[in-house]
Amino acid sequence: MHYRVIPSALTGGDISVPGDKSISHRALMLTSIADGRSKISGFLAGEDCLCTLAALRALGVRIDTESESVLTVHGVGLHGFSEPAGPLDMGNSGTAMRLFAGLLSGQAFDSCLTGDESLSRRPMNRVIEPLQAMGAKMTSENGKPPLRLYGEQQLQPVHYALPVASAQVKSAILLAGLFADGRTSVTEPAVTRDHTERMLESMGVSVEVTDGCIGIVGQQTLRATDIVVPADLSSAAFPVLAAIVGQNVEVIVRGVGVNPTRTGFIDVLRQMGASIELENTDLCGAEPIADLRVRSSTLKGIDVDPDVVSLAIDEFPLLFVAAALAKGSTSFRGIGELRVKESDRIAAMASGLRTLGIEVSETPDGAVVHGGKLAGGTIDSFGDHRIAMAFAVAGTVASAPLNILNTAAVTTSFPGFVGCMQSIGARIEIADAVAL
Ligand code: S3P
Repeated sequence: MHYRVIPSALTGGDISVPGDKSISHRALMLTSIADGRSKISGFLAGEDCLCTLAALRALGVRIDTESESVLTVHGVGLHGFSEPAGPLDMGNSGTAMRLFAGLLSGQAFDSCLTGDESLSRRPMNRVIEPLQAMGAKMTSENGKPPLRLYGEQQLQPVHYALPVASAQVKSAILLAGLFADGRTSVTEPAVTRDHTERMLESMGVSVEVTDGCIGIVGQQTLRATDIVVPADLSSAAFPVLAAIVGQNVEVIVRGVGVNPTRTGFIDVLRQMGASIELENTDLCGAEPIADLRVRSSTLKGIDVDPDVVSLAIDEFPLLFVAAALAKGSTSFRGIGELRVKESDRIAAMASGLRTLGIEVSETPDGAVVHGGKLAGGTIDSFGDHRIAMAFAVAGTVASAPLNILNTAAVTTSFPGFVGCMQSIGARIEIADAVAL
């Protein structure tokens, strides 16, 4: 599947986007090991989270679907999983694989976690090492999936200082810590999304956070809790940037999660000159939400503060597009983690933007983007959902049509993306290779 984006003046609008991916994964996993029945609403029925759902069913959890976004999970308790009949397929999802590694390393049975081609290239030692330090037994293919976990290991609590800022690894350790006897703790080199900690606390588990050290005592019971998943800021970010780089457009996105560990994108864009207002701020269970009101703005290039990287980690493809359309240069430092996402996102953005006439220089963990005018052309998304969607936004303001190759993965995180963009006036056609 490919996209063809025809540049067009956006109309703007009042829209909503699907549920948060990180929170949807965690809602399924945590309610599955809770005692009793929980309802999840606003669940993201994207392929990544559907892999988590299928894996939990394979582990013996009953999950009823009232609609694709409203589920009832019949929790089996901390020790209630049963041995799956075969490997658990994590699809494209790094979050699913790393969190399940934590959740399953203290089980009585063996399990095997597999993934698609992209996931099979992604580093897993970052999660294997701390889990092995806790006594888990697992093997990989030279640090890559598949992961084979060997059951009947009694996990020991550890303190682990994360060498990379990763919410997935932090969460995997905390989930494994639930099965250890004693107190497991982690420190992180930079603050990362804290959805796991918030959700555990909302389910009655005590999580202690002192001076950046996050601790959890094992064998606590999770209380069944209804969870409403906020709209995903990482998905809202696409129509938000489209409105900002458009001409005289206003877009409102309703009920978006604005957890401060996720809002780096808003801070960076504001520094670049964007008009973004948060209205109707509220709490949605354990998570803050707001309506985002954005207006077309003139952007200027900046040096992006490396401290914001972990708070905007998934929005860098879009920030590269913002930089390409800004006046002056924008420099990114400390973004080496982007090279081990669903694709090498620094390389993917640099090569796509160069194709469209933008000057970009790359370092191993950074880039400098020189703002300019975007031409049309054909670029490859390398099968990475966020690269595909970021270029779709770029295409709305290019000087000629933009073809984006390999866009099927968009459904991993944002089913309905094309319809959402069309609703604010973008002209995006879904094409096949021949039509290009
Ligand atoms: C996620 C954490 C981040 C992020 C990913 C979702 C999570 O990954 O990029 O899309 O849900 O914990 P890392 O932990 O690798 O930074």
